[in-house]
Formats: sequence, C-alpha cells, structure tokens
Amino acid sequence: MAQIDIRAGLSNEELDAHWMPFTGNRHFKSEPRLFVSAEGMHYTTADGRSVLDGFSGLWCSNAGHGRKEIADAVAQQLTALDYSPAFQFGHPLAFKLARRLADIAPGDLNRVFFCNSGSEAADTALKIARAYWRVAGRPEKNRLVGRAQGYHGVNFGGISVGGMVGNRKTFGPALDVDHLPHTLLPENAFSRGLPEHGGTDMAERLMDIINLQGAENIAAVMVEPFAGSAGVILPPKGYLQRLREICDQHHILLIFDEVITGFGRTGSAFAAQEFGVQPDIMTTAKGISNGAVPLGAVFVREGIYDAFMQGPEHIPELAHGYTYSAHPVACAAAMATLDIYERENLFARVRELAPHFEDALHGLKDERHVIDIRNYGLAGAVQLQPRDGEPGKRAMEVVLEAYRRGVLLRWTGDTIAVAPPFIIQPEQIDQIAQTLSEILHSLD
Ligand SMILES: Cc1ncc(COP(=O)(O)O)c(C=O)c1O
Repeated sequence: MAQIDIRAGLSNEELDAHWMPFTGNRHFKSEPRLFVSAEGMHYTTADGRSVLDGFSGLWCSNAGHGRKEIADAVAQQLTALDYSPAFQFGHPLAFKLARRLADIAPGDLNRVFFCNSGSEAADTALKIARAYWRVAGRPEKNRLVGRAQGYHGVNFGGISVGGMVGNRKTFGPALDVDHLPHTLLPENAFSRGLPEHGGTDMAERLMDIINLQGAENIAAVMVEPFAGSAGVILPPKGYLQRLREICDQHHILLIFDEVITGFGRTGSAFAAQEFGVQPDIMTTAKGISNGAVPLGAVFVREGIYDAFMQGPEHIPELAHGYTYSAHPVACAAAMATLDIYERENLFARVRELAPHFEDALHGLKDERHVIDIRNYGLAGAVQLQPRDGEPGKRAMEVVLEAYRRGVLLRWTGDTIAVAPPFIIQPEQIDQIAQTLSEILHSLD
C-alpha cells in the first residue's frame, strides 16, 4: 500500500532543524513537499505519488534522473580516489575533464577553473576579470557592470552584479556596480524564440554607463545570455552582438553566465554558440554534472590565462580556489554526464523538441491571467497578471496545484517557469501544458 505520510515520518524537531534555502520555511513545513526518489522523468513523493519533472530539478538534471552511468562512475571514483588535495597537488581526471570541456566550449575558452556551484563560478569569474586587468597593467579597470533582473547566485560578487534587488537588499552594502536595464519589453510580449524589437537600443545603454564611469575604469560586463531565474527573459535579436561590439571597442571583458543556458538548454552546448557571440569568460554549473554532484566551472579565453602566467613560477598566479575545486567525485560525475549527452545526442534532441515545446506553451496564450509567454530551446515562461496586492501569489498557487496534480514547475514572481529534462517525450510536454491550462481555467 502506498505510503500516505507527506512528511515522510519526519518529526517537528527534524522539520524545524533544517533552515531551507530560498523557501518560505513556515509555509513549507506546514505542508511539506518531499521527494524520496527519482527515475527518468519522474520524482516520487513521500506519499508515493509520481510527479513529472518539468523543471529538471532546478535547471540541472538535463539528462533526467537516476542515471546509472553517473552513479557507477561516482561509486567507482569514491573507491579509487575519494579526495585529492585541490591545491599544490592534482589528479588526472581534473585535467582530462578540463580538456574535454574545452573541446565543446565556444572559441578559445580553453582554460577551465573548477568550483562547486554557479554562485562560486560567478564570484570566481568576477575576480578573474579584475585580476586580469591588474596583470595586464590596468589596475584602475575595477568596475563591474551587471543587468537588472540578472541572477548570478548568492555570493557577494554575484548579488552585487546580479539585478534581483530582493536578493541584495537585506545584506548591507554590496559592491558598487552599474546595471544595464533588463530586456523585457512590452512590445515583445508573446514572442516565439528571440524577440524582434529593441536589441540594439537596449545594448546601446551600455554606452550610458561607459560615458558615466569611463571605459578605463570598467573591468567587465556580466550577463546571462538569457535570464533564467527572473523568468526566461530573452535577448532581443542583435542585443548580445551589440554588447560584444561595445565591449570590444572599449576593452571591457564580456562574461556570460551560462549556469542554466550551458550544457544544452538552448539546443547548442552553450548559448554563446547558439547566439553566435563569443564571451571572454563563461560560468557554468548545474547541467555540467546533471545535478548529481555539485560542480561549477569557469571557462576563460586562452589569452586571459596566458596573461597570468608570469612572475616567479612557484607562486600561485591566482590567489583563489576551493577545497573542493575539481573534486574527483564531481569530475567523475561530469565525465559520465558528458558521455550521456554525447551518446544520446541530447543537445540535438532539445532542438528537435523545441518547436513542440514552443507550440504547447504558446497554446496557453488565451488562458485567464496570462500576459506573456516566452521560450527558447527547452526553457519557457508563462507570465501571469499579479493579483491585486498579492504579487507572486497567483503563480505560486499554480505551481503548488500543479505539484498536487503531478507536475513539477517553478514560480518566480508571477511567472511560471518550465525547463524539463531533455529526455522528455512530446506527450509529457502536452501533459505539462494541459495541467497548466486546467489550473489557469479555474484559478482566481
Ligand atoms: C544564471 C545563474 N547563475 C548562477 C546561479 C547560482 O548557481 P548556484 O545555485 O549553483 O550557486 C544560478 C542558479 O540558478 C543561475 O541561474
């Protein structure tokens, strides 16, 4: 008989002890949503229900769940070499993985610095950018530029450059950063794929910041190729190209945060390739190891790495790193993940499924409360009109009801985000859209 305890037998003391991240703890603990296992496209809840994963866990389980190849690689690695000191010593798998990643990376982003998460990747990238200008003899190039609604994790660099003010406002002074406006323009509502309007104009706003601060003081501009956490905000056509041109003209590094766009979400290995724009530094995490073991990687152009390779050879060229940088178990998980992506041709599968996904989401256009729908590859967002005086509540209710009906989605503000694993079947895409349609039909 199916277990019917949604609390999985947890005591109040146990529920209280865990301070959950980015979660309304009291709300959650009054009616917990607990997963106890996962296989393929589905989670199983504590009360024995099957829930279709419409969000790749949290933008990370791109190849679906319970992949035996990853489990085997991790188990084997734990037995062979559980840990190797990250500083001053190494292990072969870290170098092999770096080389393999360089092979699929855009252009000459051939040097890879490992960390453990997207947040660490963001702060690592920002530090490398600033340190680069110092080794290049331009120490005054210190300033960083981000974008409104950008998300680069939760560490101090990331929240400073990030443009989600809710993630910054309670933590005291952040770095002094300038922000580009976001690219969510009303005239682009219900665009399919990249929006038509405003690309060059929006990118041109970087000139306002350059005019204010002086390019001679700016180290880097950091953006997500498309903003994920803020609700799949896509770059209008020409936007990223124009940012690249301005950065080139003014000797400013361009950093792409590909923590969610990387590893196939757009249909290419990286959004940089999909959109044809080469960054100088690129941050990744999540899909790199299919979410199975924490891992992040910062890709750097060869020339940037080379600039650091000077001075006494025994001194670290970059005073930065983590105890778990290139952890052998994470490297093993990533190698097995890359094998799966390759063998199952999963990035091409994203491309094949994208038109069906697009049609299914845009089929919700006439549902109640829907004010915008956006999509690219296997990432999509349905934006709702906020309920008066209760911002965020409506989308939350939709996602909680979808969970009850057996579909995992995510809400951010009044936007519902959809980002399924690449192994999803077309009928499962329809199931997601149908569930949303039924809920929106009856929701206030
Ligand atoms: C673009 C982007 N950067 C950074 C991060 C932070 O990653 P993590 O939660 O692994 O620190 C995220 C997480 O969603 C992200 O979407």
